[in-house]
Amino acid sequence: MKFKFNYLILAAFLTANFSAKAIPTPEAVEPQYDDDGNPTYKVVYGKGDRLKADGTPLNLIQIECQGKAVDMVSDEELDKCRGDDSLVEMKYGWMDFATYKGWRAYHAECHVCHGPDAMGSTYAPSLMTSVQQGMTWDAFFDVIINGRGVEQGAQKGNVMPAFGENTNVAPHIEDMFRYVKARADGKIRRGVRLPKLPKFKEE
Ligand code: HEC
Repeated sequence: MKFKFNYLILAAFLTANFSAKAIPTPEAVEPQYDDDGNPTYKVVYGKGDRLKADGTPLNLIQIECQGKAVDMVSDEELDKCRGDDSLVEMKYGWMDFATYKGWRAYHAECHVCHGPDAMGSTYAPSLMTSVQQGMTWDAFFDVIINGRGVEQGAQKGNVMPAFGENTNVAPHIEDMFRYVKARADGKIRRGVRLPKLPKFKEE
């Protein structure tokens, strides 16, 4: 019995050591809100993070190809990295689960029109820019629930569909706002595959 117990501890120790280079598991965090009760996000910066000259964090949840952020490399370099994993490096930060879900929902339902990474397309505006220019949570919510056609002031030929009845979207609008806001604030860069914080456990 005693032997078995020690063996388990050893096994746990070895596992911990072997996974030392794997993604660390930070504490789960609750969904975040600002003083006005608007949904916000939480990004935790980790190892490998760098600061810009103004002290704000650069990157931090992103993939590097040959030492450069994937959104900065040429197509040629990117092709090389696609073919050779050793040229690819992950730089991790952490975001709360709500923001992660927002990222996922956005890239499932919105990026076809609004572009990957909330960057916009020739058809639909960059939501990152909309938030940077002051789009509020309430306005964001309203457009997504009700859509926006020509009658609501959309540009001719452009239609933002109403998602109020869409169960893949409506429950995740808050989370998508968190994601888009984090993009707008420069907390999450382009071309990321997001590691996530564990789900916050509701008691
Ligand atoms: C079929 C294409 C399409 C899809 C899918 C789509 N949108 Fe849109 N969306 C548009 C267009 C086009 C506009 C701009 C309408 C206009 O001219 O005002 C827009 C506008 C918006 C706006 C207002 C932006 C602003 O600055 O006024 C928000 C917010 C928005 N969409 C969010 C979303 C979200 C979130 C999703 C995913 C759940 C989504 N959209 C999916 C086409 C789309």
